[in-house]
Amino acid sequence: QEARANGGSAFSFPEVEAGVDATHHVAEGYDADILLRWGDAIFADAPEFDPTKQTAAAQERQFGYNNDYVGFIPLDGSAEHGLLVVNHEYTNPHLMFPGLVTIVDGKIEQGKLSKDQVDVEMAAHGGTIVEIRKVDGKWQVVPEGKYNRRITANTEMRLTGPVAGHDRVKTSADATGTKVIGTLNNCAGGVTPWGTYIMAEENFHGYFSGELPADHAEAANYKRYGVPDSGYDWANFYDRFDLAKEPNEPNRFGWIVEVDVMDPNSVPKKRTALGRTKHEGAESIVAKNGKVVFYLGDDERFDYVYKFVTDGTYNPNDRAANMDLLDAGTLYVAKFNEDGTMQWLPLVHGEGPLTAENGFASQADVLIETRRAGDLVGATKMDRPEDVQPNGVNGKVYVMLTNNSKRKADQVDAANPRAANAFGHIIEIEEDGGDFTATSGKWEVLLKCGDPSVAEVGATFSTETTKNGWFGMPDNCAVDAAGRLWVSTDGNSNKATGRTDGLWAVDTEGDARATSKLFFRVPVGAEMCGPLFTPDDETVFVAVQHPGDGGEDWDGHGRPSYYEDLSTRWPDFKDDMPVRPAVVAITKIGGGKIGV
Ligand code: FEO
Ligand code: CA
Ligand code: CA
Ligand code: CA
Repeated sequence: QEARANGGSAFSFPEVEAGVDATHHVAEGYDADILLRWGDAIFADAPEFDPTKQTAAAQERQFGYNNDYVGFIPLDGSAEHGLLVVNHEYTNPHLMFPGLVTIVDGKIEQGKLSKDQVDVEMAAHGGTIVEIRKVDGKWQVVPEGKYNRRITANTEMRLTGPVAGHDRVKTSADATGTKVIGTLNNCAGGVTPWGTYIMAEENFHGYFSGELPADHAEAANYKRYGVPDSGYDWANFYDRFDLAKEPNEPNRFGWIVEVDVMDPNSVPKKRTALGRTKHEGAESIVAKNGKVVFYLGDDERFDYVYKFVTDGTYNPNDRAANMDLLDAGTLYVAKFNEDGTMQWLPLVHGEGPLTAENGFASQADVLIETRRAGDLVGATKMDRPEDVQPNGVNGKVYVMLTNNSKRKADQVDAANPRAANAFGHIIEIEEDGGDFTATSGKWEVLLKCGDPSVAEVGATFSTETTKNGWFGMPDNCAVDAAGRLWVSTDGNSNKATGRTDGLWAVDTEGDARATSKLFFRVPVGAEMCGPLFTPDDETVFVAVQHPGDGGEDWDGHGRPSYYEDLSTRWPDFKDDMPVRPAVVAITKIGGGKIGV
C-alpha cells in the first residue's frame, strides 16, 4: 500500500481507515503489541489477575486501571531498556467489578461499592514504574526490575514548596501540613530533564463528599474547584474524603507530583510552587539560559494555561543538584491578546491584585487558590486546556484545547474563536526570541478541529486531510525526536458517527501545515492516551483507556459512567476476562523510525 501523495508532509505511512469495531487498528506495516494490561504483574511475586477475586493487596502488585500518561526514562542511556512510567487516572467500577451493575425494569442500576471494592479502586489509582526491555524487536516487562513500583491513593507523599506546613493544609491526621496520603486522578504528566516522573493531579474534586461546616473559610475556594463532587464512594469508609470531618483535605490535592524513580523507597513530592489546579500535565524543556520551563494546562471550561520557570538552572552533570528545582520559581498564567500577541502574567504575592486586600496573605494563598489568582490578573479563559507540549526542534509550544460546549457567542475571542466549541482546537505559541522563559510571545490557531466536510463546523484541516484524517477533542499529545506533532483524542468514539478516538500525525511545517493522518485507532468505547516516543523514534507507546465503556459522556473525567459495551472484550477476548485498559507498543515491522 502506498503512502498518500504527501504534499510536503513530514509523515509517510498508509493511513488507517476510520471506523469503530471491537479491536484496535494500526497503520499497515506496523505491529501494535499489548505490553501491559490492568492486573498484569509489576512484581515477580504478584498474584495472577483474577477479576472475580480481585483484592487491594493483589492490585498493589499489579498494573493499575485507566492508563493515561506514558513516559520512558532510559537506563544506561539506552532507547531499548528503561523505566516505563504510567499514570492510572481513574477507575470505572462498572467495568471492573462483575455484578456491580444490574438492569432493573430496563434501567441501569449501579450498586454502592463495598469497602473491599473501594480499596481495590484506591490501589488501582496512582502510577506504575516498571522496567521494560526490547528483545529481538519486541518490548518485554521485567517483573524483577529493582526500580519497579506502584504508587497509589495510599502512598505517603510530602508537600514541598511555599504551601508546605501552611495552616490551610493541616488536618487532624497531619498537624504538620506536609504529610499527604496518596495522589488522585493523575492524567497526563511528564518526565523532567533530570529523569524524574511527573504525575499531574487533575479531577481531584470528584473524590470528596459531605458538607463543609457552616461558613467555613474554604467555601469559596472549593466552589471554584467544584469540590465536592461525590463521584466516588470513598468517603463512606475514609474520613479524609468527607468535608464535614476533614475540611482542609481538598487543599492537599490538585498539585504536580514529582517522583524519584531511581529510589523505589523515595517519598513522592507534591511541588506546590507549580500551583493548584486540575492539572492536566507538566511537560518541560530546558531554556537557553539553563532554567527549566514547565507548561501546564488546567482542564476545565474557561480555565487557564500556565507555565512555571525555575529559579535555578539545570545541571546535566549532577542529577542530585536538580532534585529540588521545582520548589522555587515563578508561576505564570497566559493572556492571549486579540492581535496574536500574548503575555505570561506572573502569579506572585504582592504583585498587582495578589495582595492581602484580596485575601492573599502570602504566596501560599496564591498557590492554593491559583485559579482565583488567574481570574484577578485577567488571564484568558480557555476551552479546556489539556496537554501543553514544548517542541525543542522548532521552538514552538502546542496547546491542546479539547472543547467547550458552554462558550456562548458573546464569549468568543481570538484564542477561543468558536461558540459551543464541540470539537476543540490547537494553539501554537512562539515565545519571544525563541526563549521559553520569555514573558511575552505570539500565538496562532494551528487547527480548528472537527469534520471539515460540514461547513458549519468551521474546521481548518488542510485540503489534503482525508475523511479519516480529521479529528475532534485533542487531549494528550507528543513531539517525537524529529520534532513532529502527534495528537491523541478523547471523545470521538461514537457508534452513530462510526468513528473512535485514536492517534493522529499532524503536520506543522510548510505547505503541509494542518494536514492530519490517522495512525492508530482504539477499540469501541475507549479513549486514546499516551502517546510517547522512545528517544530513537522506533517505538510509540499508546495507552488505551476504558475500552468497552458505553457510558454517558461526562465532560469532566473522574466519575464513573454506567454502561458497558459488550461488543468488545479487548484486549483478551476471553469470556472470563473483563475489558482491560492497556498500554500498546507500536513498532515498524522489520524495525526503523515510526512514520518515516
Ligand atoms: Fe484527564 Fe483532561 O483529561
Ligand atoms: Ca487528558
Ligand atoms: Ca504530552
Ligand atoms: Ca483523557
